[in-house]
Amino acid sequence: MRRARGHAPGRINLIGEHTDYNGGLVMPIALRLGVTVEATRRDDARVYLSTDAPVAPQEGSYVLGSEQRDGTWVDRARGATAILAREGAAIGGFDADIRSDLPVGAGLGSSAAFAIALLRAVSSLFDLALDDAANVRIAHAAEGEYAGARAGMLDQLASVYGRPSEALLIDMRDHGTEPIPLPPTIELAVIDSATRHEHATGGYNRRRAECEEACLHLGVTSLRDVDERPLDDILERLPAPLDRRVRHVVTENARVRRAVAAVRANDDADLGEILNASHRSLRDDYEVSTSELDQLVELATAAGALGARMVGGGFGGSIIALAQRGAGRDLAARVLEGYPGAGHLVAVVP
Ligand code: GLA
Repeated sequence: MRRARGHAPGRINLIGEHTDYNGGLVMPIALRLGVTVEATRRDDARVYLSTDAPVAPQEGSYVLGSEQRDGTWVDRARGATAILAREGAAIGGFDADIRSDLPVGAGLGSSAAFAIALLRAVSSLFDLALDDAANVRIAHAAEGEYAGARAGMLDQLASVYGRPSEALLIDMRDHGTEPIPLPPTIELAVIDSATRHEHATGGYNRRRAECEEACLHLGVTSLRDVDERPLDDILERLPAPLDRRVRHVVTENARVRRAVAAVRANDDADLGEILNASHRSLRDDYEVSTSELDQLVELATAAGALGARMVGGGFGGSIIALAQRGAGRDLAARVLEGYPGAGHLVAVVP
């Protein structure tokens, strides 16, 4: 039986949160953790998936050509195969064995990593020759059309083009990328709060709709278009809470630019302050943090982190804490000592 394997990593994002779907700037770093899919051809049109990840259910199956959503993670596979068929790719049924060392729902891009790994396996199993750009596009469409989150493209781009040892500055206006190597003096502890909020998808989609509404008020197609204008002039034209949402997006883009300069200048203290400011903005203006994430960030600061912030979409998930190189593991241990929940250290980056 013909077999093929696909792998894709998860990501953190150094800075640039909730800017991707606003045509803004992001700065992801790929994790060494990810999702691997081993696929085997079947001689019928059935897709059978099983995973070792702690998700329910751990198995799923469907028939190609009748991809009906059921609200589980299997929808991402349904989306991928339905979109491939729509685009004329000839595929048959297959069994997919999915292994992941990336925590699920921790805000670390596990959904995108799964979709990309699956596409890579399926592409090689059926000789589709999908390139990186096609994988990004199809994985993103599968998420938006079949999984219910109107997410931006950060996770897919980071999974495909990101590297574990450097940040990748991506301009979402044109997907232009620039590698930004991390200074040798720092590392990032990635700590999972082990909390996931049920309203995460709804909350995320609501923020996105608020940004679109703000664009209508301002007569622009993307919030990136107001980047250069005086912020006060913009904010006074917006009702609450749209003013706070826009303030987050505009100041976050500015923080990405400042972070690039801080990384290049090896100014670790400034980078830490920028991460702290990003967290405050996500907490107070964008309102996507949670008490658990806030608590982890406070514990990290108290334990001597140079800076810390929630990472990813929010409503649960993980934080990143900036430490001197070699100090991240101890820092995380001190943070977790004070954390009443079931949090854990996911990785130290790079
Ligand atoms: C989630 C989405 C991304 C991005 C982040 C927030 O990870 O999938 O597209 O919007 O949230 O920066």
